[in-house]
Amino acid sequence: MVFDLDMIRDYYADLPARVEAARKVLGRPMTLAEKILYSHLWDGKATEAFERGKSYVEFAPDRVAMQDATAQMALLQFMQAGRDKAAVPSTVHCDHLIQARVGADKDLQESMNKNNEVFNFLSSVSNKYGIGFWKPGAGIIHQVVLENYAFPGGMMIGTDSHTVNAGGLGMVAIGVGGADAVDVMAGMPWELRQPKLIGVKLTGKMSGWTSAKDVILKVAGILTVKGGTGAIIEYFGEGAKSLSCTGKGTICNMGAEVGATTSTFGYDDSMERYLRSTDRNDVADLANGVREHLTGDDEVYSNPEQYFDQVIEINLSELEPHLNGPFSPDIATPISKLGDVARENGWPLDIEVGLIGSCTNSSYEDLTRAASVATQAKEKGIKVKSEFTVTPGSEQVRFTAERDGILHDFEEIGGKVFANACGPCIGQWARAGAEKAEKNTIVHSFNRNFAKRADGNPNTHAFVGSPELVTAMAIAGTLDFNPLTDTLTTESGEQVKLDEPSGIENPEKGYAVEDNGYQAPAKDGSSVEVVVKEGSERLQLLDPFSPWDGKNISGAKLLIKAAGKCTTDHISMAGPWLRYRGHLDNIANNTLTGAVNAYNSETNKVKNQLNGTYGEVPAVQREYKAAGIPTIVVGDHNYGEGSSREHAAMQPRHLGVRAILVKSFARIHETNLKKQGMLALTFDNESDYDKIQEDDTINFLDLEAFAPDRQLTLEFVHADGSSDQVKVNHTYNEQQIGWFKAGSALNLIKQQNA
Ligand code: F3S
Repeated sequence: MVFDLDMIRDYYADLPARVEAARKVLGRPMTLAEKILYSHLWDGKATEAFERGKSYVEFAPDRVAMQDATAQMALLQFMQAGRDKAAVPSTVHCDHLIQARVGADKDLQESMNKNNEVFNFLSSVSNKYGIGFWKPGAGIIHQVVLENYAFPGGMMIGTDSHTVNAGGLGMVAIGVGGADAVDVMAGMPWELRQPKLIGVKLTGKMSGWTSAKDVILKVAGILTVKGGTGAIIEYFGEGAKSLSCTGKGTICNMGAEVGATTSTFGYDDSMERYLRSTDRNDVADLANGVREHLTGDDEVYSNPEQYFDQVIEINLSELEPHLNGPFSPDIATPISKLGDVARENGWPLDIEVGLIGSCTNSSYEDLTRAASVATQAKEKGIKVKSEFTVTPGSEQVRFTAERDGILHDFEEIGGKVFANACGPCIGQWARAGAEKAEKNTIVHSFNRNFAKRADGNPNTHAFVGSPELVTAMAIAGTLDFNPLTDTLTTESGEQVKLDEPSGIENPEKGYAVEDNGYQAPAKDGSSVEVVVKEGSERLQLLDPFSPWDGKNISGAKLLIKAAGKCTTDHISMAGPWLRYRGHLDNIANNTLTGAVNAYNSETNKVKNQLNGTYGEVPAVQREYKAAGIPTIVVGDHNYGEGSSREHAAMQPRHLGVRAILVKSFARIHETNLKKQGMLALTFDNESDYDKIQEDDTINFLDLEAFAPDRQLTLEFVHADGSSDQVKVNHTYNEQQIGWFKAGSALNLIKQQNA
């Protein structure tokens, strides 16, 4: 048993009273999403109704999950919190760093050799701090979470956007940045804007070629990639109950593709069956005891328009299989139209590769349905036209599928089985010839199909569909094939149709695994050494940032005045820099290299006021730091929009930047800056942005009186001796000013934990 049953038991024991308190405050029936949110308030029982889309609310999630790429900086930071153990049950999953090339065993070995130091670090730090560690090859984070940790009515956060997959088991599971994971593991509340609610009513029942994947492909077509932003999507209705638990997982997984905060389903028999067949009878029994609190109220589902901000209705009996793409998951085309649409748009008809699996679609049901199609190729004597690959989501599902002969069925049609890892889904696919950038088509059952996502080739047209449809399309080898109506030519020249897929929801003999790849943490980790290789260029233990000296900052220089858009990508670029995500000093060499200098409209070229020359932003900043000169960065509107990556705040801080002064901030970045002990300031009068000159020296005049709701005054002394005083605003509360004074939020927590 790897999950924390006591935690679930305690939560369920409290749940009825918590839901009741919230219902009183709201004065109306509740959706499932609301029940879960109001039952996870940091302050305990609900005492006020929050405004959807407006109120910022502090929550207490039940768990944290991290994948290997994002866990590195999160855990390096967590180590500074001064705790013996993570405050909530947490896990690390090694899945993103594994490349798919020739096949599972070799690829896994290669990746272990290449990323050994990162895996060793993650393993040792997990062991020390009470964090469950899933080794490379154990599986993809979201599949492993669904199989082991997700539980109805729970709330979790994970440092990966498809954390939302756990909604398949009735959770509110949300993808976050590393900084949020650190807060929760360090015992702090987690803040979220109270989401809006979208209700999706599913009526009817699926049959034939239609699968759960088609529900979300259809929803993506309706909502588009932005339509779910800031909202929780809640599925309900008879159709919802008719779906398997893992099918629900697929739907929730791809809620990320419409920008939704998360998606969820009410607890039902399919979830109970899945819990029992994955060896969690205890959880199923406990959930049955509070069943009515693990789904929305009847009245809500009878009159959804009254309770949701938006309602969509889909009749599963009429839903057609879809293939969405290319380049965006919301270009939804029913299979009956695909050939024509592809020809009209000039999409290459020939399918080169069909890829199934990933965190989105590698359940037992998915694999059996796909296998029921794959076996027909041999049985009916049809030559398979495209290459075919399978990426199992976990060792448990892989082992079970192998035991039951399913993998063999795929291998029989030339299928290649990759490691239980992200592989081709995240561009970790060493696809032969991709560098030639030829226009081509692939079909897969993953979730994202943006340009370059799978193989790095910007001209690969990737289409997303269910595993069974992908298998059929790989057999046919062309987008101009509709398995519902079209025939294929056998090797003897006969015309045959593929039979409808048939699957098994959960294995009759139960799931099995020999080595699930889980490493339980030490009971007492105090003597465990965290392993960071000497001289590593990928990992670096963090030093705490210095506390504020209590004085006004004076004699500061302007590092850069950024013009226009300055996203977290401009501040801390991704791509090749991902390699250094666990090494603050190395990754800091990309700091602000994408920002446009307002004085010369160039990127990565700023004036070094120490000698009047122009240089790269990080290099110039390092010179200021060496000379003991503080700096500030000035920016435009919505500074720091984009991902929630904490590196964008940590890097300038590490290099010695003291304040970021902008017209407006993207909120998450502003919070990240505060957490790292930086000053995040906005112009009181936006036009003051224009007064700032390239050679300015900056003095804070009243930082010593830094207090909530109190403006600060900065003096900009220009090269000609003249100066301007500029009023700036901030949104720091008492606690956040405490972070600034201590040097960072973690420094303060450490003091408090001492
Ligand atoms: Fe991995 Fe792709 Fe899922 S990258 S976590 S398999 S979305």
